[in-house]
Amino acid sequence: MIIAPRIRGFICLTAHPQGCEQNVVNQINYVKSKGAIAGPKRVLVIGASTGFGLASRITSAFGSDASTIGVYFEKPPAPGKTASPGWYNTAAFEAKAQEAGLYAKSINGDAFSDEIKQKTLDLIKADLGQIDLVIYSLASPRRTHPKTGVVYNSVLKPIGQGFTNKTVDFHTGVVTDISIQPANEEEIENTVAVMGGEDWGFWIEDLKAAGLLAEGATTVAYSYIGPSVTEAVYRKGTIGRAKDDLEATAFHITEKLKDLNGKAYVSVNKALVTQASSAIPVIPLYISLLYKVMKAKGTHEGCIEQIQRLFQDRLYTGAAIPTDEKGRIRVDDLEMDAATQAEVAELWAGISTESLPELGDLAGYKHDFLNLFGFDVAGVDYEAETNEMVEVPGLV
Ligand code: NAD
Ligand code: NA
Repeated sequence: MIIAPRIRGFICLTAHPQGCEQNVVNQINYVKSKGAIAGPKRVLVIGASTGFGLASRITSAFGSDASTIGVYFEKPPAPGKTASPGWYNTAAFEAKAQEAGLYAKSINGDAFSDEIKQKTLDLIKADLGQIDLVIYSLASPRRTHPKTGVVYNSVLKPIGQGFTNKTVDFHTGVVTDISIQPANEEEIENTVAVMGGEDWGFWIEDLKAAGLLAEGATTVAYSYIGPSVTEAVYRKGTIGRAKDDLEATAFHITEKLKDLNGKAYVSVNKALVTQASSAIPVIPLYISLLYKVMKAKGTHEGCIEQIQRLFQDRLYTGAAIPTDEKGRIRVDDLEMDAATQAEVAELWAGISTESLPELGDLAGYKHDFLNLFGFDVAGVDYEAETNEMVEVPGLV
């Protein structure tokens, strides 16, 4: 079939196999260009098919020759219907990894469930024995609790008081004010249940209980802080409560890993266009201004540059891992640079539908959004017939 984007709000219903493959190849080439990392050899990535999780899997495999197991939740293709992009990304990654002689297998299903955890434990036991690094990179709007069956839905709302600020419809470029009412207690709890640290803790407990964590095992989950313009809806809102919980969980996990000399970290990453972030109000407008400033300064990074730097300059330098006063690894340093933030704040004050094309990088935002689904990728022939029925080579 010939595959074109079919966009509905924050998602695209189609994905392009060759575009996704080319994105993966570009990321592999980037990691290789930065040289070898004295990193982990056996890596489990939970949330491995897109965004920061995919970049973590690619960096592990092509930076330090790691065997990787990926867990993700993606829609397979059906005749005449494309798969979701993470399916095609994984297919491309596993083909390239296996071509390079690297072990690469994956499990498609609900990582919050006991069933998928057990399936993953069985695979590790059978194939890798133990794991040196566990990356936890899930982004999901809901979670079915494995012990109670309760379904939690997350919300993106401020806490305590309502909030009004500018936002953009990134498809049309129209800037409007958005007002969001504050969350109630139940909504806060639900968001923490979905995006907080409980499930990360469950994974590590299960892996440890089964004897599948190696001596000195490390686990890393991803967080975000961001600037004052997004604070009400992000860091001080419901999702921020979930991130507080995730960050606190790192300390609890580290306690539990003491006898293995293991350690849990949270890495605070940069704001980037992913499927998860494009659904958050205000953030896409902030990102389009941030991109403008960081590209002009030459400090812009995507997921792969972020994670390659996390591995090479933070986690696996051979020296102590640098953290902030709250124990977090920071690769959002270039985003949070004072001069960068001052410029973004100044742009923010003058932003409108009319000024956005000049002051912001809306074109860069749109390009990155299309890229998530394998569209607008250089070197791909979108007029050509393409086979949507792609198999994932390492799917268990
Ligand atoms: P993403 O949407 O690109 O990736 C989410 C991954 O989770 C995918 O692999 C998806 O298949 C998987 N997934 C979702 N629900 C699942 C389920 N039930 N079972 C198994 N797999 C499931 O998101 P992302 O932006 O890469 O986010 C990853 C983490 O990074 C999140 O914790 C996010 O908060 C954090 N983060 C994101 C940004 C940003 O700007 N995008 C910045 C800093 C930190
Ligand atoms: Na991810």
